[in-house]
Amino acid sequence: MKKPGEVFADSSLYDPGIEAIVPRYDELHDAILNSPPQDRTEEIRVLELGAGTGELTAKLLTRFPESTVLAVDHSEGMLAEAERKLETFGDRADIVQGTFPDDYPTASDEFDLVITSLAVHHLPSAEKRTLFDSLADALVPGGWFVNGDVIRFDASHLETVSSAMIANWVRSKGWEEEEFMNRWQASDEFDDPDALTDQLLWLREAGFESVTSVWQYYNFAVYGARKPA
Ligand SMILES: C[S@@+](CC[C@H](N)C(=O)[O-])C[C@H]1O[C@@H](n2cnc3c(N)ncnc32)[C@H](O)[C@@H]1O
Repeated sequence: MKKPGEVFADSSLYDPGIEAIVPRYDELHDAILNSPPQDRTEEIRVLELGAGTGELTAKLLTRFPESTVLAVDHSEGMLAEAERKLETFGDRADIVQGTFPDDYPTASDEFDLVITSLAVHHLPSAEKRTLFDSLADALVPGGWFVNGDVIRFDASHLETVSSAMIANWVRSKGWEEEEFMNRWQASDEFDDPDALTDQLLWLREAGFESVTSVWQYYNFAVYGARKPA
């Protein structure tokens, strides 16, 4: 039985597989890592939620050479892939199994930055709001939260346009979408995306400022917010 967000029954298929079904996956990661105000020289403490196979984690640790990260995920299979990928970063990467928002974050004023990619949309609306509240607590004053994720359009015709775009993207990789999903035992049955406008509002209500969307491609968006200094 798969857990929310595992996508593939076999986690070793995740890295090649996700590029085939998420358009502009690397660009989404880039937009996340271009958003925080910190620069390469700063010793930043980062929390990553839903780190999966550690793909964004590795890019973060490379982009910010003085950073350390607590990488959280509830999937044993995904974390096993992350352990392998992040070994080269030594104790800069602390990889833990846990669930958000139940187990993480735990402490107050602990992180300069919280990042997450393609994971928060698995939570129902109320749990997203609980998470945003706890992130406002877990960040240091002036700290940033950045999420790159699936969003829901309020207009059904735009959902149709997005679905067609993804089908075309998968086709450009040489597959028909249904054939790909069946062949690789992939599924997204736990998806529960909310509208971008709602999520931005919930961040404001959680006490964040500078709440802003920085990138969007159809139903994928990157948005961020700052805890007041
Ligand atoms: C689609 S993957 C994204 C992985 C990675 N962030 C990336 O950009 O490729 C979603 C990840 O979030 C994890 N996940 C989803 N919901 C979670 C939750 N509530 N607590 C912990 N991990 C969760 C899944 O196990 C999975 O590894």
